[in-house]
Amino acid sequence: MSIVARVTSLLAGAAAVLLLAGCERPPVDSVQHGYRGTGMLNVYNPRTLELQVPANQPPEAIPAAPDDGPKAKDIYKNVQVLGDLSVGAFTRHMLSITQWVAPNEGCAYCHNVENLADDSKYQKVVARRMIQMTQKVNADWKPHVAATGVTCWTCHRGQAVPGQVWFQAEPQNKRADFIGNLNGQNLASPSVGLASLPYDPFTPYLQKAVMIGVGSGTALPTGHKASLQDTEQTYGLMMHFSKALGVNCTYCHNSRNFKEWNESTPQRATAWHGIRMVRQLNNEYLVPLTDTFPASRKGPTGDVAKIYCATCHQGAYKPVYGAQMAKDFPELLTVAAVAKTGAAPLPPPVAEARRSVLYYDVGSAVLQDAQAKGLAELTATMLKTGSLKATISGYHSASGTLAQNQELAKQRAFTVRDALLSAGIAESRVILAKPQQTAGNVSGEDPSSRRVEVTVQ
Ligand code: HEC
Ligand code: HEC
Ligand code: HEC
Ligand code: HEC
Repeated sequence: MSIVARVTSLLAGAAAVLLLAGCERPPVDSVQHGYRGTGMLNVYNPRTLELQVPANQPPEAIPAAPDDGPKAKDIYKNVQVLGDLSVGAFTRHMLSITQWVAPNEGCAYCHNVENLADDSKYQKVVARRMIQMTQKVNADWKPHVAATGVTCWTCHRGQAVPGQVWFQAEPQNKRADFIGNLNGQNLASPSVGLASLPYDPFTPYLQKAVMIGVGSGTALPTGHKASLQDTEQTYGLMMHFSKALGVNCTYCHNSRNFKEWNESTPQRATAWHGIRMVRQLNNEYLVPLTDTFPASRKGPTGDVAKIYCATCHQGAYKPVYGAQMAKDFPELLTVAAVAKTGAAPLPPPVAEARRSVLYYDVGSAVLQDAQAKGLAELTATMLKTGSLKATISGYHSASGTLAQNQELAKQRAFTVRDALLSAGIAESRVILAKPQQTAGNVSGEDPSSRRVEVTVQ
């Protein structure tokens, strides 16, 4: 062999080694997850799993304390959520959250130790809201978390800031060279599995309620108009799902038809509820705490750290591999009644067979359960007569800026659309009308200016 040929073959060998370095070393296991021949396989690397399983064992629960004796609210001064616990159970709860969230720092991480009733540390104010959030997940999101539920440990794992959170992406640094506007994509970003997809799929899909999906039900772009970038952004979100759960796309989809629900696995339905749950946790619990957090905890654009699938799942198909931690903490399984302050209650929804009006709290795009009940008759009408379509219009007041109000009215309309879809109405039968400003009521104090109307025709 000539010297040139020898050097060439050496170089080729080196290049092959470099190329293969990006692949995973065999053997890799695969588990069949659907009918034979359908390609529903999940690929696992046994070596990664071996490391992951021991790292995902929950801490042992502190033994339960007796339920009798005086209640926490009778003994302590500033107990707003856990007041109905016995003093013993309350102390056990404080010890447990210390173990889950601040094991090294101890009680002083949240408390001014001179006065435990004092709320001057932001950590305590956040922790109180976190207790309520955990209760909400366990009590109201059973379609996702089932009886397994969550505790603070599910997200925190012994750290004050959960290991996996997200912020809004930084605005792009527009450069003077010819690279041009990257348009929020075209960078190898870890948020989307190092693909160059749009790297913030979280703000539109896990905070706002933009429709996820790329396939149109019709030949022409009527109704659902997904752009190429929407398609890529959907794919970016799906990359996150796969990475967060440590699974392939086929854990939820049959790859011959990603859109078709009838051919998807039950896990996809669980994930559908998970998306709605995450939106609620972000909008109702984290975002309102923005001003409570110090600047050092916020993202580059000043937003609060938010939740996505990886916050709980951390690489496992079920967080902590399905360990049933929550059942040992009954106080985290139901939403505790808290003395309501301030805001006047909303009027009952209008619940007719062909028209429904639902009301919202000031500045909120959360469809409260009591309001959602107003859709029951209308949904029944639609399920009975397949030709009927629903038109959803969101209304907003004239106070504040127009762009923000329109966005809010739109997000409110989306919650109603989702409620109809989850009741089994096809997407093609739901029409979203443009947000409208209510006449007269300028300040927005009247709840009728914060409403969504649905009419069926
Ligand atoms: C992760 C934050 C956090 C940690 C750590 C923590 N606490 Fe608390 N503590 C709270 C919150 C939140 C409340 C208020 C609960 C409520 O409103 O229902 C509270 C309330 C209390 C109260 C009632 C005070 C009063 O008079 O109102 C006592 C007592 C207490 N904690 C003791 C402890 C002890 C002892 C420790 C350490 C073993 C501890 N806490 C660790 C968050 C924390
Ligand atoms: C679904 C995930 C999730 C669960 C469950 C959860 N948290 Fe959090 N927690 C978060 C996120 C996200 C943040 C914001 C991160 C940050 O602080 O920057 C946070 C922040 C906090 C902070 C502020 C820490 C700091 O220094 O900024 C405290 C204290 C806290 N949580 C306590 C709790 C307690 C107590 C529980 C259980 C009752 C709990 N959390 C349950 C996700 C969760
Ligand atoms: C954990 C479950 C899960 C995994 C894993 C997952 N998806 Fe999805 N996917 C969903 C859900 C749920 C939706 C529908 C979301 C909605 O309607 O709000 C969806 C929607 C989609 C859509 C849009 C279909 C339409 O209606 O137009 C495509 C395309 C898609 N996924 C592709 C993928 C690809 C590619 C992967 C792997 C990289 C993947 N998915 C991984 C759960 C999953
Ligand atoms: C608040 C914590 C939390 C968050 C956030 C979360 N999950 Fe889950 N998820 C759980 C728990 C707990 C279970 C286990 C339920 C059970 O035991 O059946 C679960 C189960 C699932 C399953 C079913 C797994 C199986 O094999 O049955 C899927 C799929 C899933 N989650 C997808 C998602 C997706 C996608 C997201 C993000 C949109 C998400 N989850 C966000 C807590 C969470």
